[in-house]
Amino acid sequence: MIAAIAAVSANGMLGLENWLPWDIPEELAYFERTVAGAALVVGRLTYESMPEVPPDTFVISSRDDWVPRTGCRRESSVETALLAALATGKAVFVIGGASVYRAAWPYCQRFYLTRIEREFSGDTLFPQEIPLHEWQVLDERVETYLERKSAQPVRCRFLCYAQKSPRKPGRP
Ligand SMILES: NC(=O)c1ccc[n+]([C@@H]2O[C@H](COP(=O)([O-])OP(=O)(O)OC[C@H]3O[C@@H](n4cnc5c(N)ncnc54)[C@H](OP(=O)(O)O)[C@@H]3O)[C@@H](O)[C@H]2O)c1
Repeated sequence: MIAAIAAVSANGMLGLENWLPWDIPEELAYFERTVAGAALVVGRLTYESMPEVPPDTFVISSRDDWVPRTGCRRESSVETALLAALATGKAVFVIGGASVYRAAWPYCQRFYLTRIEREFSGDTLFPQEIPLHEWQVLDERVETYLERKSAQPVRCRFLCYAQKSPRKPGRP
């Protein structure tokens, strides 16, 4: 199964200066728990911002001469990255960033989205065209955590969406 996971602020922000606009350790821990043991599909910029990545991480880059860390593989498109990740036999998680969610959402059976219920400054927006409002909500849970940059509490709405008939990678 192919799933995606993202967190987005109330004003649609995903990223700031190649990291997250907020500092919410519990939300990051949720991300790590959810993708544990999966094969990951990630864009080069997000990958380069991650201090550690697990084995079976497939990094999308158009640069033929770019070499990822040991245990990771470069793929030249979202489709080939998804096929390579599926071939591991593990669950597959698309972990961003924006350009990768934009290309990968048609293939995703599940989309785990945390709505951070406050506006944040940022420079990368979650792609508006992903039709999550048409998908079924399988799970929804709200928690309040301390956001450490502002030292203010913030509500996090953990949602799991299901897309009924996702496209299969490799098929037109
Ligand atoms: N809030 C969240 O849940 C979340 C999750 C992930 C990331 N983020 C944030 O999002 C921001 C990064 O997102 P981004 O969209 O700027 O970058 P990105 O998707 O992480 O990486 C973009 C790069 O990936 C490669 N790429 C993407 N699509 C491609 C395609 N179809 N074909 C070939 N190569 C492709 C290109 O690399 P080359 O230039 O090498 O060709 C492109 O420059 C950061 O701030 C990050 O922290 C937030």
